[in-house]
Amino acid sequence: MSQTAVIGAQWGDEGKGKIVDYLGGEVNIRFAGGSNAGHTLKVDDDKYVIHAAPSGIIRSGTHNLIGRYVALDLEALIPELDIAHKHQSKVMVDMMARIVLPIHKQLDAAREQACGKDKIGTTNRGVSTCYEDFATRRGVVFSDMATSDSFVKALKYMGYYDERCALLRYYGVEPWSVDRLVEWTRSNNFSWLVSNFGGNTRRSLNASISLGRRVVFEGAQGVMLFLHSGTYPFATSCFGGPDGIQVCFGHVELDRILGVTKAYATRVGAGPFPTEMSREMTDLIRTKGNEFGSTTGRERRCGWLDLVALRYACRYAGLTELVVTKLDVLSGFDNLNVCIAYSEDELGPEIWSAEASYLSTVRPIYKNLAGWKEDITSCSRARDLPEAARQYLDFMSSQVGLPIKLVSVGPSRRQTIRYPF
Ligand code: GDP
Ligand code: IMO
Ligand code: MG
Repeated sequence: MSQTAVIGAQWGDEGKGKIVDYLGGEVNIRFAGGSNAGHTLKVDDDKYVIHAAPSGIIRSGTHNLIGRYVALDLEALIPELDIAHKHQSKVMVDMMARIVLPIHKQLDAAREQACGKDKIGTTNRGVSTCYEDFATRRGVVFSDMATSDSFVKALKYMGYYDERCALLRYYGVEPWSVDRLVEWTRSNNFSWLVSNFGGNTRRSLNASISLGRRVVFEGAQGVMLFLHSGTYPFATSCFGGPDGIQVCFGHVELDRILGVTKAYATRVGAGPFPTEMSREMTDLIRTKGNEFGSTTGRERRCGWLDLVALRYACRYAGLTELVVTKLDVLSGFDNLNVCIAYSEDELGPEIWSAEASYLSTVRPIYKNLAGWKEDITSCSRARDLPEAARQYLDFMSSQVGLPIKLVSVGPSRRQTIRYPF
């Protein structure tokens, strides 16, 4: 029996999807976030970018749950249900999952546009606007999509639709009409989704745990982007760590909380990024690491490994071990910078807060580590890695105080190495 959580330990896109697929859980669970997430899976010549379903769907016989704390984009889910069907895996959506409506995406985009140069750089997937309705107890849940009547009733409950329309018009945007929204639900056959995939994921999870199934919780985003731990306000709108699992399912005993981190750092969108590299170095890493957003295709900003932020992430999320991805991208350099402290850190050698107002003032202090020249993408055992690469990993582990259990040396499932043996 085991319950494992896979959590982003940086600014998202650490390779969580690849690791969830590699772990091969019998039950895989998305518990937070929406289609702002883009999780890439690569098995031999096949590649999938998954936005709504858990990354377990390409393994036959798995059960894949979408919990009620997810901001569910049904249009993103439909093609993923086909992928699941093709791979003979099952999907269940919680009847209470929050539904992202077209008006959520309209409002997300309108707000961003109105912010001009101060914008957050959201993915425009209507995630923040869906979660804000969750907090004010309005909007539509999955079970409401069962019929046009229940959909319209939820839409109009407590003046919800009229209020959202007023807000959209404030931004100069004409909202989708009720008729158009109803037509959207009909043309996509969402009622069929409710009868075929709707269920109670809390009950299903409890049953799986009592049957001793291997359960993997798949986090979205990363600690430095979560609402309460990230670089607020340059953050997403939910908790994608163990706290999000609790919100979604109540207390769950987790055996392992894996923190996934790149061997360097990236971020998409605006906000402080203390170890951001020079333009030339960014171009190099972006090209080698194909650092373009999986959801929006935007260029990812690139930075050196930030051990101060990583230590903070480990503590905040209660990580028990690390998974290091993209080590292969660092091959070919004489030296590598690693941030070990912030010089303006008035809070001491550790940070206890990552709000933008604080993190934008710090200046990283680097330790220079030896690089390695060898291509490591074919290494299949830890002992095949160059000595300098192992030293890099061991330095990370000792600085953070957690063991590294897996190392990823390429996008494919098979390019994953158990560490240190
Ligand atoms: P996620 O959102 O955390 O699941 O990560 P994404 O899928 O958005 O971004 C990770 C990107 O890195 C994807 O394009 C993966 O295919 C790729 N990737 C994952 N692990 C590795 C690795 O070890 N090496 C290389 N070169 N690419 C990797
Ligand atoms: P995965 O799960 C990287 C970023 C956006 C923006 C901020 C707020 O693939 O790691 P939002 O659309 O959530 O309101 O945008 O958060 N962001 C991500 N960055 N990976 C993600 O997910 C992200 N999800 C949101 O770029 O800066
Ligand atoms: Mg991603």
